[in-house]
Amino acid sequence: MTSLLRILRFTRALAPLYTAIIVCSVLTAVAGLAVPFLIGHATDTVAAAVGGDTATGSAVRTVVLIAAAVLLAELAVTVISNVGGWFGDVMSNRMRTILSVRYYDKLLHLPQRWFDGEITGTIVARLNRSITEITNFTKMMSNSFASMLITTAAVLAISAYYAWPLTVLLLIVFPVYVWLTSLTSVKWQRLEGEKNEQVDIASGRFAEVVGQIRVVKSFVRERGELEDFSRRFRSTDATTRAQSTHWHRMDVIRRAFLNLIFFGIYVIIFVRTVQGGFSLGEMVLLIQLMSMAKAPVESMSWVIDSAQRAIAGSKDYFRVMETPVDPRTAAVMAARPEDARDAGHADGTAGELPEGSDGGTSTALTIAPVAGAPVVAFRNVSFAYEDGEDVLHGIDFQVERGEKIALVGESGGGKSTIVNLLLGLYEPRAGSIEVVGRPSADLPLDQLRARIGVVFQDASLFSGTIRENIAYGRPEASEEEVVEAARRANADTFIRRFDGGYEQVIGERGLKLSGGQRQRIAVARAILKDAPVLVLDEATSALDTKAEIQVQKGLEQLMAGRTSLIIAHRLSTIAGVDRIITLRDGNIDEIGSPAELAASGGIYAQLLALQSSGDSRRLARFDITG
Ligand SMILES: Nc1ncnc2c1ncn2[C@@H]1O[C@H](COP(=O)(O)OP(=O)(O)O)[C@@H](O)[C@H]1O
Ligand SMILES: [Mg+2]
Repeated sequence: MTSLLRILRFTRALAPLYTAIIVCSVLTAVAGLAVPFLIGHATDTVAAAVGGDTATGSAVRTVVLIAAAVLLAELAVTVISNVGGWFGDVMSNRMRTILSVRYYDKLLHLPQRWFDGEITGTIVARLNRSITEITNFTKMMSNSFASMLITTAAVLAISAYYAWPLTVLLLIVFPVYVWLTSLTSVKWQRLEGEKNEQVDIASGRFAEVVGQIRVVKSFVRERGELEDFSRRFRSTDATTRAQSTHWHRMDVIRRAFLNLIFFGIYVIIFVRTVQGGFSLGEMVLLIQLMSMAKAPVESMSWVIDSAQRAIAGSKDYFRVMETPVDPRTAAVMAARPEDARDAGHADGTAGELPEGSDGGTSTALTIAPVAGAPVVAFRNVSFAYEDGEDVLHGIDFQVERGEKIALVGESGGGKSTIVNLLLGLYEPRAGSIEVVGRPSADLPLDQLRARIGVVFQDASLFSGTIRENIAYGRPEASEEEVVEAARRANADTFIRRFDGGYEQVIGERGLKLSGGQRQRIAVARAILKDAPVLVLDEATSALDTKAEIQVQKGLEQLMAGRTSLIIAHRLSTIAGVDRIITLRDGNIDEIGSPAELAASGGIYAQLLALQSSGDSRRLARFDITG
């Protein structure tokens, strides 16, 4: 319940809509309650006329007037409940917008570590379910149940006026019904949780399989994946059977109890009428009122049910919303008010994107480098991904302005981890990192990352056009700048060969391009970003020789005049750098120029020897090809 209240507080911006819905519900209830009174009055009029107490003519006039009044009341119910329904639709959709935008906003604030432990499809499935269940519940509440509850409260008051035993019986119904329903719900919810877990896992896998369909196909794993998927869904069939059996068994008990109570109610009404306690009109009025009170009781189990789903959904929702954000990412998002961000984290006011928001522009470098300081410095950095053994031990090196440094070491030796730390994706466990002479931990993340251009092994493009991908880091770049970057990345020629040219759509993660083409677009993207520090993490290792040569041309343009940290997979590339750092088991082994290290007998010298002896297998252990 508290989590539902939190949702209300969270969506405070919708307060005017909530008010409108409540007003409509009250009006609907009032207009609806007028009907049994009118019918009761008509009954008395008819009875009097039939009994010969009043003249037929005037009785006819009265009943026709009453019928007209019923018509008006019912028309009012029709119109007002539809207006309320409209507000309900708008409200629940805006609620969905707010909850979804906030969730996404939150995810974008979470540290890399959080994502390491999650599966994309599962995150998405959970988001969809929790938000759907929350909004479904609020929609149902606003579309019908609110006015039903108000009606019930009124019925209780009215019946107390006519005959208190009726009120007592009705008052017994509610708590017992809620109690029986919540008994059902505990088990029901547990089973529902089991089903959701299976569905979430299956959906996560589904998304992964679709994303890597080529691997699935090449290993002929379609059948296996399908079986796994269907097994998980089939397991929900059995759970549903148990769940439904339990629910319906309990519903029989609940409803039988309700029927029994209504037996008592009818006995009281009928007997009292026969004994002259009620007029015929009052009897008709009370029977109608009682059945009006019955509707919310009957839908109670359904309401409690969906309330509980909504509660479960909002718990899931808030569990993610309560994950501690990466404070540095949060600072970046908060510092850019013009950006597409939710203005009201804490105060819960806004939750939608401002109109005309274009997703922000690239960052200007406002923090000046410290004169004479190395561009990048690792000071005795140790790091572990999880609690346990360190992946890096006391890493200490610095890179001067304009210098090109290569990192060499066994596969899994921690080269990419150094890149991750440099980008501020993780914090060192011990030691510190300096960028342009300033502690990296003190630099705002946008200032830090705007200084570092990265080309990864996997180009990681987005669906959309080639132009959008090149301009990803600088959406405001001009057409000329995009073309110039592509030209320097050796990509312009192949881009122009596409029918769509720069507007060519390249499919999810750029799947419609070859590896070499993708990588050249990634290089163009880095050229356009124009960061002073460049990191190449095996940028060409996934490519064949011809594509590699094409990408290498672009990379040379990119590296020109830039401080570069290169993890290369080819010794020929490494030979051209200023200094080489070799890593062994997460420790720095040697640092020196290629000539020095070639003579020192260390890892680099061994690699050179392996290369001349043609031992490609042992070279591969160092992520190196000959
Ligand atoms: N996200 C992660 N979570 C946990 N361990 C990781 C993660 N990324 C890499 N590792 C581990 O850290 C070590 C270093 O990996 P990495 O820096 O990628 O090596 P390299 O790039 O030199 O091949 C490896 O043992 C790897 O298993
Ligand atoms: Mg690596």
